[in-house]
Amino acid sequence: MEKLKVGICGYGGLGRVHVGSMMGMEDVEIVAVCDNNPKKLESKEVKINIETNGPVFDIRNCRTYLDFRKMLKKEKLDAVVTALPTNIHAEYAVMAMKEGLHVFSEKPMALKVRECDKMIKARDDNKVQLQIGQCLRFWPEYEILKKAAEEKTYGPLKALTMIRIGGYSAWAEWFNDGKISGGAILDLHLHDVDWVQHALGLPKALVASGLKGITGEVDDVTAIWQYEDCIVSIRGSWMYQTFSMSFQAFFENAAMDFGIHPDTALRVKVKGEKEFRKVDLPTKENGYYRELKYFFDSIKGKEKNTVCTAESTKKSVELVMLENKSIEKRKWMKIVT
Ligand SMILES: NC(=O)c1ccc[n+]([C@@H]2O[C@H](COP(=O)([O-])OP(=O)(O)OC[C@H]3O[C@@H](n4cnc5c(N)ncnc54)[C@H](O)[C@@H]3O)[C@@H](O)[C@H]2O)c1
Repeated sequence: MEKLKVGICGYGGLGRVHVGSMMGMEDVEIVAVCDNNPKKLESKEVKINIETNGPVFDIRNCRTYLDFRKMLKKEKLDAVVTALPTNIHAEYAVMAMKEGLHVFSEKPMALKVRECDKMIKARDDNKVQLQIGQCLRFWPEYEILKKAAEEKTYGPLKALTMIRIGGYSAWAEWFNDGKISGGAILDLHLHDVDWVQHALGLPKALVASGLKGITGEVDDVTAIWQYEDCIVSIRGSWMYQTFSMSFQAFFENAAMDFGIHPDTALRVKVKGEKEFRKVDLPTKENGYYRELKYFFDSIKGKEKNTVCTAESTKKSVELVMLENKSIEKRKWMKIVT
């Protein structure tokens, strides 16, 4: 089997998570790792807010670079996986696509919608794959919720609450500068924004309220998305302490939840049943592993990327911008499709 030759750019928290996932893939070879901080190329410590998937990669097994341009010039790569501060997502992805490389770039797609457009153009001009790390689309528990909503397994979905809260970053200072990260609304809350529009489509209108925090951007947000027959409320915050993600879904004939402490497993309670019961997951692999597998399978032609297109991830950045507008104007925003 021909292995895909992959380079990593950004060997911090998520870069290492991705390397851990790739170590479990037979058809992928990590040949080079780039980080502009030499210390990152020595340490093996992994700092990430959710459980990681794999063992720690030994950096001595591949070539290392401090400069991405040099890595692109010297290495013969098929693809790069970038996990960089958000303000350079677009620039680095475009650079790699212009060299004819497939790109997996971490979320958010970019700080600005016009940067997302440049990424899409580079993808098309160079006929390569571009996938953004919206990992929730591949998270088994969220996939089951999406399927239940689509197939009306428990009748129509009436109301959904999604929560993602944590504290300010203590592992990388750049998150706390809104000009680099976009604040919690773009960095953290975006995960649920992205999943809701991916799973349920666009709402008819949305309203949001938020608090500006130390990033200078909205770091605590409560949004309500109004659909024809369903209402979705989404909470995101960096003003809490420890990280947690959860949802509570109210179907006509059942309640389904995930991440509700103390029992974090996906559970369902159908009308008439006395207790919630745990739902078995179809896979043991998490969303980080599965999103990368999907990306590599798309490159190899085994999959056509329909689950996480660049156009749809750009839409999520647009929706966050619309929420920011709603917070500023204190108004409901209509969504015209
Ligand atoms: N999908 C998720 O669940 C999830 C979770 C956390 C972070 N992220 C995203 O991943 C991205 C990275 O976050 P992180 O937590 O890994 O941050 P991090 O700070 O831990 O890692 C970023 C790395 O990039 C390196 N870097 C910065 N500028 C560089 C440059 N010009 N060239 C080469 N290397 C450079 C830094 O030295 C650092 O090691 C962010 O966009 C973040 O939003 C996603």
